[in-house]
Amino acid sequence: MGKILVWDWPVRIGHWLLAGAFALAWLTGDSEEWRLVHAYAGGTVVGVILFRLIWGLVGTYHARFTSFVRGPGGVLGYLRGLLAGRPAHTAGHNPAGGWAIVGLLTLGLLAGGSGWLVYQDMGGKWLEELHEGLAKAMLALVGVHVAGVIVSNFIHGENLVRAMLTGYKRGGLGEAIATTRPLAAVMLIGWAAFCAWWLAR
Ligand code: HEM
Repeated sequence: MGKILVWDWPVRIGHWLLAGAFALAWLTGDSEEWRLVHAYAGGTVVGVILFRLIWGLVGTYHARFTSFVRGPGGVLGYLRGLLAGRPAHTAGHNPAGGWAIVGLLTLGLLAGGSGWLVYQDMGGKWLEELHEGLAKAMLALVGVHVAGVIVSNFIHGENLVRAMLTGYKRGGLGEAIATTRPLAAVMLIGWAAFCAWWLAR
């Protein structure tokens, strides 16, 4: 085991863009004055997630859904190991975290999509309430996600937040990715900006 490159640029930029945009959308959600900023932030959330869904199919190894979305057996096996005090170390996302990520991406898309419909004056009160409910569910899942990250930091003795910044984690040499894909990260930023502008028009 050594320090290996695990997270490419699109995963890292996408993560912090998503976290920042969600925080901004949450903070501006209740204010009429900040409505446009809220729409830009929500549009960014949708743009980053749409890109991430494609990146999950064509991105580098650890970014791909097939590398971290496990069936019930894989998740239960991981949780059993965790409870027994010897959780399996994964170079990429662990099997439990993988499902939290699927949940965050799904909720983010639903919250953003319903927000856009509300912004277009569609649906009325019930849609507004649904949008608010989805945003609250997402905030709760973000809480679970951040708690999971903190617990994993302690269990594995590894700074996962730093890994999401630098791209480097502990792993076997054969598990390293070969490239950080900077050009795709530039495309992500351009795409997210376009989505923010287009959805907030
Ligand atoms: C201060 C707050 C946050 C911290 C410290 C944090 C930290 C992290 C870390 C360390 C990972 C990698 C976990 C692993 O090693 O498997 C991760 C992944 C992820 N986080 Fe966060 N996170 C934060 C907020 C958020 C928010 C607000 C969202 C969504 C709105 C979010 C969505 C995700 C997603 C989707 C991934 C998967 C990344 C990918 O594969 O593209 N995170 N986060």
